[in-house]
Amino acid sequence: MTGLKGRGSNMVAIAKSCQSRAIGAEIVCVVSQISNSEAATRAREVGLQIEVIPSKQEHYDEKLLECFARHQVDIICLAGYMKLLHESVVKAFPQRILNIHPALLPKFGGKGMYGHYVHQAVIDAHETESGCTIHFVSDKYDEGDILCQRKCPVFPDDSPETLAQRVILLEHQSYPEAIQLLWKRLNQ
Ligand code: GRF
Repeated sequence: MTGLKGRGSNMVAIAKSCQSRAIGAEIVCVVSQISNSEAATRAREVGLQIEVIPSKQEHYDEKLLECFARHQVDIICLAGYMKLLHESVVKAFPQRILNIHPALLPKFGGKGMYGHYVHQAVIDAHETESGCTIHFVSDKYDEGDILCQRKCPVFPDDSPETLAQRVILLEHQSYPEAIQLLWKRLNQ
């Protein structure tokens, strides 16, 4: 699932890992809140099926659940999705909804902590390490159990932009690995 401003780079990384069989998963559909987001455009380019479900639409949560059922979804991956999911959706997929965050949670998470704001906060705190966290989604921002984390250095001369470039590359490696890890756990 991608958000209004999702660029879709994690989605493409996951799609490539599925297509090359680096991981034993398949993207059955990409859910986008609008049809002309960058993520939706990239999804079309790589031949993925898109479901456009505007979050302001009535019965949004029911429509999401109906979509997941129709596509027989096992795992839901959020990438650049900024809304909290309704508890009915979270409860329908216990420990099966993942989100990726561009820092080492539990630090630098919560409402309003996204993109530039996260990396600026990491630099302002003089952290020497940052990275990404893949965690289960709960009814609170960035608070679900952590599935895995990957670290990278923060250099003294980093700007939010240079740090973001390092972290996003780590995200592209880590999200497919996390999906594989979860899938193995679910099938043990
Ligand atoms: C990523 O940095 C992710 O950590 C955060 O939103 C961004 C999404 O990027 N949750 P993209 O849409 O996958 O390019």
